[in-house]
Amino acid sequence: MLIRIKKASDVSSSEITSKEAILNRRAFMTAAAAASGVALLPTFAGPAFAAARLENVKKTKWGEAEKPATLEGITSHNNFYEFGTGKSDPKRNAHTLKPKPWTVEIAGHAEKTGTFDLDDLIRPHQLEERIYRMRCVEAWSMVIPWVGIPLGDVLKRLGPTSKAKYVAFETLVDHEQMPAQRSPALPWPYLEGLRMDEAMHPLTLLAVGIHGEVMPNQNGAPIRLVVPWKYGFKGIKSIVKISFVEKQPPATWNIQAPREYGFYSNVNPERSHPRWSQSRERVITGEGGIKALFAPRAETKMFNGYAEEVASLYAGMDLFNNF
Ligand code: MTE
Repeated sequence: MLIRIKKASDVSSSEITSKEAILNRRAFMTAAAAASGVALLPTFAGPAFAAARLENVKKTKWGEAEKPATLEGITSHNNFYEFGTGKSDPKRNAHTLKPKPWTVEIAGHAEKTGTFDLDDLIRPHQLEERIYRMRCVEAWSMVIPWVGIPLGDVLKRLGPTSKAKYVAFETLVDHEQMPAQRSPALPWPYLEGLRMDEAMHPLTLLAVGIHGEVMPNQNGAPIRLVVPWKYGFKGIKSIVKISFVEKQPPATWNIQAPREYGFYSNVNPERSHPRWSQSRERVITGEGGIKALFAPRAETKMFNGYAEEVASLYAGMDLFNNF
């Protein structure tokens, strides 16, 4: 099958703001290869955690007063079932993922659809560091210094039409790169979705790095979703497809256990998970080991502390039943 790779200029060259953003050398290679008709050879994928600094990252006010968890903590305690169901499995196993080259298919109700080289999607945007508190549905949390771009900025450039009411996301399916997909632990691909206004909200990120470094494989290389007012499982990793759709799309954990995990999954300390309370969380700092059991505890806040920014998205909605 022929994959059509668009150049950034096909999207809109007038909107390109930063020529120095990450990985632009790769985009030139893609363009040159496309022009010459030569297929690109896969480049070195590197180990699961290859330290490579991202350049030209703008600091922001988000979380500037917070103390981020250590890189070791953030990369050692993960949920990524494509590499196993244990928290330490992704670090051990994710070296088989090849995050470069990477394409993302854009589908559905938008003016610009097709298969894009990831670098071409990202390059026109200014990379930002955003330090967000992340709350896992399993009642632990971590402060993570993400590097990324607002998802809404990318979506706007693709020109969603009035029929686009939701955005659907899909993770790669590849039994060689993601060996645990041979087991039926979850239905593959991992799927997630957001309502259009949630996707467009300025807090919602497409993340490409952590602690100033290229996204480690176990955290969702090369690109993942970050929605800080929702439980962590909404943050789908290693995205290969983004679709603009009319109806609420399927989401993996919601399909798996609909009574336990809703589509919205906004952090809500007043609505317990059927099997445990969501009123408190263990804060994993990565210092002195990564065991959640021994971590200090904190009160969980409505919308994970981002109520001021996002509560208006849900005005008038029954958040107990729309969980
Ligand atoms: N994305 C994919 N493709 N597969 C997964 O298993 N796990 C989710 C989410 N994204 C998951 C995924 C869950 S349950 C959580 S809590 C977060 O990723 C964890 O992200 P982290 O490992 O970077 O902390």
